[in-house]
Amino acid sequence: MPDNAKLKQALDAAARYGQEHLFKFHDELDSAGQEALVEQVMSVDFAQIETLHRDLVRNHSASAARESIEPLRARAWEDFSLSERAALANQGMRILREGKVAAFLVAGGQGTRLGHNGPKGVFDIGLPSRKSLFQLQAERILRLSRQAGKTIPWYIMTSRENHAETTGFFKERRFFGLSERDIFFFKQGEMPVVDADGKILLASKGRLSMGPNGNGGCFLALAKSGALEDMKRRGIEHVFFYSVDNALVRVCDPRFVGFAAQMGMPAASKAVVKVQPEEKVGVLCLRNGKPSVIEYSEMTEEMIYSKTADGRYLYDSANIAMHIFTRAFLESHAGASLPFHLAHKKIAYTSPSGETVTPTLPNAYKFELFMFDLFPMAGAMAGLLVSREEEFAPVKNKDGVDSPASARNLLLELHHKWAVAAGVSEEELRGKLVEISPLASYAGEGINTALIRSQLGNPIIHVS
Ligand code: UTP
Repeated sequence: MPDNAKLKQALDAAARYGQEHLFKFHDELDSAGQEALVEQVMSVDFAQIETLHRDLVRNHSASAARESIEPLRARAWEDFSLSERAALANQGMRILREGKVAAFLVAGGQGTRLGHNGPKGVFDIGLPSRKSLFQLQAERILRLSRQAGKTIPWYIMTSRENHAETTGFFKERRFFGLSERDIFFFKQGEMPVVDADGKILLASKGRLSMGPNGNGGCFLALAKSGALEDMKRRGIEHVFFYSVDNALVRVCDPRFVGFAAQMGMPAASKAVVKVQPEEKVGVLCLRNGKPSVIEYSEMTEEMIYSKTADGRYLYDSANIAMHIFTRAFLESHAGASLPFHLAHKKIAYTSPSGETVTPTLPNAYKFELFMFDLFPMAGAMAGLLVSREEEFAPVKNKDGVDSPASARNLLLELHHKWAVAAGVSEEELRGKLVEISPLASYAGEGINTALIRSQLGNPIIHVS
């Protein structure tokens, strides 16, 4: 089709939905810029944007339906007997040894709260080793795959914004010792960003403002990119899903793999007990009888404070974004349509007069998919409560709670405990920082006390 016809088609499509402002600067662009703008406009589903704006921004009708909510009780790891725990861990290790487990990282987020420009995984949380979040994860995968004697393929979802920087970071660091063949990077989908009137913002004179379509975009991206097909080819049966920002994530934890396999459900989720009932986290629940997550804001006072006979809060199992799905489940549901949610954010844009505006208050609406909207489709889901101190150190904010500093401290406290559990005394470790490389220990096993003692003269003890 001649370019003019294409331009007319794009203009008409935009104008039909009141979005002709997207062409305001068209004539100022060079021909490559004009072509790119037309291509981008043609890829937008304007009808979808209009519906989402009407339902979510104008009418705020996220979910008007009456729902029945009940708790989904996660089983505490400690509630299993010692022999049951050993059996589950052995079962998980056997499955890893058979090469049936993959790691699936969603790392397409923008990390706006952290205020770090670039992929969050490259972030150095201030450990003595200066390791990035990506390196901690890579080394845990490497250690575990060495223990299992089998490769653990790693599927990493990025976004258009951070793909090149993510892959470049891995390349520069030689994939942290993993084989490049076993790491599969792919990009998630995008959605246009709109203002309060539903007009799509311009990121620049020739580009629409687009944002990643939320972590729930991971399932479709998994299928579209060929990653699911690759998993099948490799004989993967269990897919460990996790988010990039937990410095203590036990990627493909054999205990969890064993638990998920033993429970025999399409999905399993790790959770931690809420610090206090008012903690603002999503909690595992059953919504209309199906597994789901209930946000703090959706809970009534009664739900927040109700307890069971054993003294536990009824809704105490906080979602920490660590799940295992069977590949079969992902294959049959990756294409499912999930509902969009609204996020109100500060996003820089090009004004009608052509200037870049950097807002100080939220000005833009993003439409995002949430990964846990897939849970109900599993029908049933097993929950495993694990120790927060051992497994959860989120990096969300610049400082204070859930920051790089808090995550660093949690990791160092845990490694201190590992050293003590291995036989080094508190007295010997007084005033020292202990960091143990994931290559030396995945979860506190095999700590070399002689190596620790040989470094007692230093303020920082590093076991690698
Ligand atoms: P968060 O919900 O914490 O979002 O992501 P974020 O983008 O990292 O941070 P803020 O909210 O802007 O401060 C949880 C996980 O989901 C991934 C993130 O990379 C993180 O691992 N994610 C989020 C995606 O992969 N894609 C998205 O579109 C959003």
